[in-house]
Amino acid sequence: MNIDTTSPVNSPRRPIRELPDTLISQIAAGEVVERPASVVRELVDNALDAGASQITVRLLAGGVRLISVEDDGAGILPEELPMALKRHATSKIGSLADLESVGTMGFRGEALAAINAIADCALLSRVSGQAHAYLLEGQTGEISPVARSTGTTVEVKELFFSTPARRKFLKTDATELAHCVEAVRRHALARPDVGFAIWHEGKPVEQWRRCGALDHLPALEQRLADVLGSDFVERSVWVDFSTSATPGRPDYAPVIKVWGRAGIPDAARARSDQQFCYVNGRFVRDKVISHAARSAYEDVLHGQRQPVYALYITLDPTRVDVNVHPTKIEVRFRDSREVHQAVRHAVESALAAPRAGHATQDNAAVVDKPVAPAQVSDWGQSAMRFPDPVGHRVSDMEALWTVPPPPIAAPQPAHDWPLGRALAQLKGVYILAENAQGLVIVDMHAAHERIVYERLKAQWSQTQGTASLPSQPLLIPATFAATTFEVATAEANAATLHLLGLDVTPFSEKTLAVRAVPSTLAQGDAVELARSVLAELCRHEASTVVQRAHNELLGTMACHGAVRANRQLTLEEMNALLRQMEATERSDQCNHGRPTWRPISLRALDTLFMRGR
Ligand SMILES: Nc1ncnc2c1ncn2[C@@H]1O[C@H](COP(=O)(O)OP(=O)(O)O)[C@@H](O)[C@H]1O
Ligand SMILES: [Mg+2]
Repeated sequence: MNIDTTSPVNSPRRPIRELPDTLISQIAAGEVVERPASVVRELVDNALDAGASQITVRLLAGGVRLISVEDDGAGILPEELPMALKRHATSKIGSLADLESVGTMGFRGEALAAINAIADCALLSRVSGQAHAYLLEGQTGEISPVARSTGTTVEVKELFFSTPARRKFLKTDATELAHCVEAVRRHALARPDVGFAIWHEGKPVEQWRRCGALDHLPALEQRLADVLGSDFVERSVWVDFSTSATPGRPDYAPVIKVWGRAGIPDAARARSDQQFCYVNGRFVRDKVISHAARSAYEDVLHGQRQPVYALYITLDPTRVDVNVHPTKIEVRFRDSREVHQAVRHAVESALAAPRAGHATQDNAAVVDKPVAPAQVSDWGQSAMRFPDPVGHRVSDMEALWTVPPPPIAAPQPAHDWPLGRALAQLKGVYILAENAQGLVIVDMHAAHERIVYERLKAQWSQTQGTASLPSQPLLIPATFAATTFEVATAEANAATLHLLGLDVTPFSEKTLAVRAVPSTLAQGDAVELARSVLAELCRHEASTVVQRAHNELLGTMACHGAVRANRQLTLEEMNALLRQMEATERSDQCNHGRPTWRPISLRALDTLFMRGR
């Protein structure tokens, strides 16, 4: 057989050769530069590393024709300009030790070389104290003096001009522009101390003025409002949490700090497009962090809803490896569990703070500081008997509330109660109440569900999963016609049901009997409760269900144990519910993430009726 050794393509063995430099950079560019926004990200990184306080990004045709990033940072010396475009040339690290604790955005010395290999680049820079700025033309390597103030401008023209296949993948200018803006937005959220401006086709697109250091909360709040909209700030709460040092472990970098703002459940979106996470100032996409954040919402946000947040995590740089991905958007934690726990705890406790205490705005869920329950539950100790609203049995509500409601006859300082004094019930669904600001509307089922749920959870954590929930036997067992499936599930899960405070046993081949229910749900519909728990148990692997899905289960139980719509409540019952809400964690949302109450201020009512105009 004849082998054509002249054609490298058909040859079974080809000589090993070093790749030309330009080709190496083009290959590297494939990793770093996917679209114009990738260039914007790298150039803004560089400007920040140079200590810029104002960064201006100018774009033409979504960045494909021109990306220019101008900064007022330290600049580059003329003799170093050619180095900036060389592969693996960087001023930021010099040793492996530096790499392990890198504090700058860049360090690979790759970006400018890569970009220069796939676009027409120019560098203009002036170091302070020098007479001139200098311009380096990337294609020719020529350097000439030009006029410019201290700082650097990098111009990138005709991106992918040498790799047309790549260019074909680009979307419309508008889409590429949106990606570029998003890239700057990610930087801007971490650097309120730097001003940013974006121009497209000569028109201003975004302008975020500098407002102060990241750890200065008003500055961060201002920047978040500027970049994400005031809605984001209004519908989020502060997160601020640090882990403490571990005694006796000197090698252990003590503190993980997690701060920022987490959206209230009501602000959640269908897409995860408002989730910003930073590790030591670097925007990252990280499964550990996003999982931890999402799990902090598992109680208040069911289904596919995506929470919004901007979270800043700082930890010792040696505990995180940023050199995992060419674009450095991924990181690796030395101990991902501690990060997970810190983030989850930080967000969870921020969300748990009862916010009903600050019903001062039209959207009263928007409040910063939690109100201690003691502040709102000071209504004396005299226990209260409810009159039977329907006339034939003791109120459902009475059994559910351990905290006595205020005596209705006493003069009520309505303004002292964030959720106000109950006025009436509307359509058997809503409670109308009056507080100092105006009207409060409460979804009574949603609110009660949350209260019952939080109580079940508290009881559950007291049992620590080993003993069972406090249970109450029924005087007369409630029997119901069950499917063979339900009977089998009840038999197979007797132990699990017992843990949950339920006793559901076969009565006959086709009948189940409920003999005991959790005492918290004693007044609910026992049959409906049993049915829903059995259905839940069917869905999961029986033996592990309680550990893995106990919150879900307790949620199901709460939903069925809570007062249903169309139940007539007395004013006393309504007031008791309001007081209970004020003292309950997370009472702003039912455990499906729906709001439990809404305020309508007097001002809003006046506007409605055009009063005072
Ligand atoms: N805007 C800028 N201001 C000052 N120096 C810059 C700027 N952009 C790039 N440089 C210099 O060029 C070098 C190479 O940049 P780059 O290729 O992005 O690599 P890296 O950022 O990883 O060091 C940097 O290390 C820095 O010294
Ligand atoms: Mg860089």
